Amino acid sequence: MNRQEALESIEVNVENRNLIKHMLATEAIMRALARRLGGDEEEWGLAGLLHDIDVELTGDDMSQHSKLGADLVREMGAGDAIAHAVLCHNQMHGVPCETMMDKALFCADPLTGLITAAALVRPDKKLAGVEVKSVKKRFKEKSFAAGASREQIAACSQIGLELDDFLEIGLKAMKAIAEDLGL
Ligand SMILES: [Fe+2]
Repeated sequence: MNRQEALESIEVNVENRNLIKHMLATEAIMRALARRLGGDEEEWGLAGLLHDIDVELTGDDMSQHSKLGADLVREMGAGDAIAHAVLCHNQMHGVPCETMMDKALFCADPLTGLITAAALVRPDKKLAGVEVKSVKKRFKEKSFAAGASREQIAACSQIGLELDDFLEIGLKAMKAIAEDLGL
């Protein structure tokens, strides 16, 4: 499957524009991580883009979230590696992250929320003026964007990245698509 097909499927399955923006942001970070770590950029990008495709279908039932998503992306022809990354990004199923792509998706997912929140507290609500040091400061404020799991973001160590480095990669990747994100 290609990116266009993935986007079409997202349009069918997802209404919430903020959720779509979250998936676009995750895609951008995954692409940047693939470039940095020698992964397959198209594949890593698709894993990021599709990872929450089932959120509106599973609703509040976290026990189904990402299981259904993995089935959906497999049916779409995204392949087993992407399906596995989607499945294990919700650790409720007890399926461990194994590949570099799995681990990258796991830590990239919550980073989008932290960076988005860091932009939204600015007077201009734009990403352009957000600096790595301010994201790092926010990272340490546990009550700020509390839904963005710090533990999960810090799992960037599992892909061999220092936190500073990871925050910088994520911020730069999201800035590059700021317009799509409305930030
Ligand atoms: Fe997500």
